[in-house]
Amino acid sequence: MRAGLEIEAAVRSLETRGKERLAVRIGIATGLVVVGDLVGEGSAQEQAVVGETPNLAARLQVLAEPGQIVLAGATRRLIGDLFRLTDLGRQTVKGFSEPVEAFAVEAVAVTESRFEAAHRRITDLVGRAAESALLRDRLREAWAGAGQIVLLSGEAGIGKSPQLAAEVASEPHTRLRYQCSPYHRDSVLHPFVVALGRAARLAVEDPAETQLDKLEAILAPARIAENAPLFASLLSIPTGERYPPLSLSAAQQRRLTLAALLDRLEALARQKPVLVLFEDAHWADATSLEVLDLTVERIRALPVLALFTFRPEYEAPWTGLSHVTSIALDRFAPAEIETLAEHVAGRPLPLEVTAQIVAKTDGVPLFVEELTKAVLESGLLVAEPQGSRLDGPLPPFAIPATLQDSLTARLDRLAPVKEIAQIGAAIGREFSYPLLRAVAGRDEPALHAALAQLEEAELLFRSGAPPDARYTFKHALVQDTAYETCSGAAGRSCTGRSPMSYAASSRRSRRPSRNSSPTI
Ligand SMILES: Nc1ncnc2c1ncn2[C@@H]1O[C@H](COP(=O)(O)OP(=O)(O)OP(=O)(O)O)[C@@H](O)[C@H]1O
Ligand SMILES: [Mg+2]
Repeated sequence: MRAGLEIEAAVRSLETRGKERLAVRIGIATGLVVVGDLVGEGSAQEQAVVGETPNLAARLQVLAEPGQIVLAGATRRLIGDLFRLTDLGRQTVKGFSEPVEAFAVEAVAVTESRFEAAHRRITDLVGRAAESALLRDRLREAWAGAGQIVLLSGEAGIGKSPQLAAEVASEPHTRLRYQCSPYHRDSVLHPFVVALGRAARLAVEDPAETQLDKLEAILAPARIAENAPLFASLLSIPTGERYPPLSLSAAQQRRLTLAALLDRLEALARQKPVLVLFEDAHWADATSLEVLDLTVERIRALPVLALFTFRPEYEAPWTGLSHVTSIALDRFAPAEIETLAEHVAGRPLPLEVTAQIVAKTDGVPLFVEELTKAVLESGLLVAEPQGSRLDGPLPPFAIPATLQDSLTARLDRLAPVKEIAQIGAAIGREFSYPLLRAVAGRDEPALHAALAQLEEAELLFRSGAPPDARYTFKHALVQDTAYETCSGAAGRSCTGRSPMSYAASSRRSRRPSRNSSPTI
């Protein structure tokens, strides 16, 4: 989506010899695509892309006006409120028997966090009693003037995003929320730039003068003369005649900007307690991490609770300090999975359905939510006074579209060893080293290295040591995704290299036919 908006803007700004302006039309659809072998020759050579999704994108592109981006319904559901859209209604397009939903993109919406954009309905907090109690305790200390840092870590979808914080902070306070983004890891102070723009309510269409007025309004009056030009420069607002140009070296300007950010935090904390939420620090740019360093020191004697969230791949350097508390969120136990599934469904679910959800989601709350929603949308459940019953036998669930991407991304990050994961997935949730070696046909050092890497990435658990080792996929959904992504060369090696070995596989009877949708 962001690439689409940028392509559109780049093409619009191209100079041409003629009077006409150039414009592009863009169509975006979401779904499974098989990218296969190279076809064509020379400069016309490209990878064959097959599936309904590219066809739909091409048809939607035809519906777009010049300079417009049109999205499919499935894409719209995934992006939540991240973009402002106009509903174009159902459209009849060539090659599709039913009319398809279409939405035109207006602009990027200003939402506070990924979490709010994608989740409009927050279910009641399930479990996490110990974590909530610990947070409440730290909050009490912080509000009493002994600033506290809480490091909240856990894998994707485990529940780091702000429910815990929302629950604990009921007293009047100022809330500062910073959201890191995987698209802006190299953009200096990105979370702070966005948060300041939002706090000042800057609008793109405001003239520079108005933007400066708005910026000054959110700064401590005593420091406006020093800090406003620094923030203006950070937010790329021209200061015109209002302030003399900053004649500082890059290093000086950087140091003063960081100091100004900390000054603002302190000034706010002198008025009211402050809750700082810094989300997804694993994506933070280096300078933002430096602000966190300074924050950890500065708040020791201020009524500030700062909550930094991140995935386990990030190693926070602040552990061990007396005012720093680490909380690692664990997966849900089966009873909690059931409760969450029931909350999402709004009623008790048939035992068979709950059992599948427990088995497939491995206690990751995000998976529980998405899989439960997928079951509800499948129309298989019939409401009854005390709950619901199944209308017919339960077929294997499809991997929800909302998860497909993140699961595939987990594997793609390990591109060089992905094939080993795929071969393992074709064998089953669990496989032995000798069987994998027989099917993969690799030399042992390469195989050892690949397995070690998959283990380190926590995609696989190992018991025993090769040659007697057994491996288990940590997530059933990761195994399914690895299996479903077998295509082309990798596909042949996952499924076709050794019929003898393959006959021993437990997955054989579950192989989907060529045309079926992905199943789990
Ligand atoms: N304790 C809980 N009770 C109810 N729902 C929960 C709980 N924990 C998580 N969820 C739900 O699971 C989903 C995923 O949680 P969340 O977005 O907080 O994950 P995250 O750890 O922040 O993941 P990411 O690293 O991708 O940001 C959310 O929709 C959330 O509502
Ligand atoms: Mg999150």
